[in-house]
Amino acid sequence: MSTEVETLQCCPILYSERLALCPIQKEDAERITELLSDYETVYMMTYAPWPYTLADSQQWIDYVHWLCSENKGRFWGIYDSDGVFIGTIGMSLYPEHDRGELHYWLGRLYWGKGYGTEAAKRAIRYAFQDLRLECLDVNHMSRNLRSQRLIQKCGFQYEGTFRHYVKRFGHYEDVKNYSLLRSDLV
Ligand SMILES: CC(C)(COP(=O)(O)OP(=O)(O)OC[C@H]1O[C@@H](n2cnc3c(N)ncnc32)[C@H](O)[C@@H]1OP(=O)(O)O)[C@@H](O)C(=O)NCCC(=O)NCCS
Repeated sequence: MSTEVETLQCCPILYSERLALCPIQKEDAERITELLSDYETVYMMTYAPWPYTLADSQQWIDYVHWLCSENKGRFWGIYDSDGVFIGTIGMSLYPEHDRGELHYWLGRLYWGKGYGTEAAKRAIRYAFQDLRLECLDVNHMSRNLRSQRLIQKCGFQYEGTFRHYVKRFGHYEDVKNYSLLRSDLV
């Protein structure tokens, strides 16, 4: 079975009030490239290359399909109520620890409308209710205040700061780490 077919099977479509989270497909590569051909967006992401090319997007899609096939991740495209692909959300998984790490981004046109928080809350519910994780963690570069706010609104607990943890665009960046436990949700 192809890893794409496995992804379609292991990532169910998730709905929230205004959004649908649908498994990432190979056809999404052009739209992902279009949305990430924006420096302001990629500048906030910890690992995405710049400039971001179609080959980067195709490689990433193959990678997340592989993660899914190995039970090491779940990734979705985020669609608004008009059926427009506006970003992605997902989690790397460490099944031996019942732990995951949340990742997300939206195209810049779609920032500031609460979509990021809505998608994150839906993915979090899936992580604890369906995958039965014990712990979900998330990171952002200290300067990424939107992401920090999203994380706070989702109820994550601040754990600490990794100083000069990544080198982005020639600068060492501090990265803040947060966790959410199953028991934090009740
Ligand atoms: C981070 C991201 C997903 C947030 O999504 P979003 O839909 O814009 O987030 P929301 O609208 O749900 O919430 C953003 C919050 O940040 C706040 N905010 C916006 N700019 C801010 C700033 N400069 N300082 C502090 N808070 C800020 C908003 O007011 C809002 O909080 P509020 O609801 O209390 O008013 C989105 O901005 C994005 O994709 N950014 C680029 C990629 C990225 O950073 N990915 C995450 C890497 S860790």
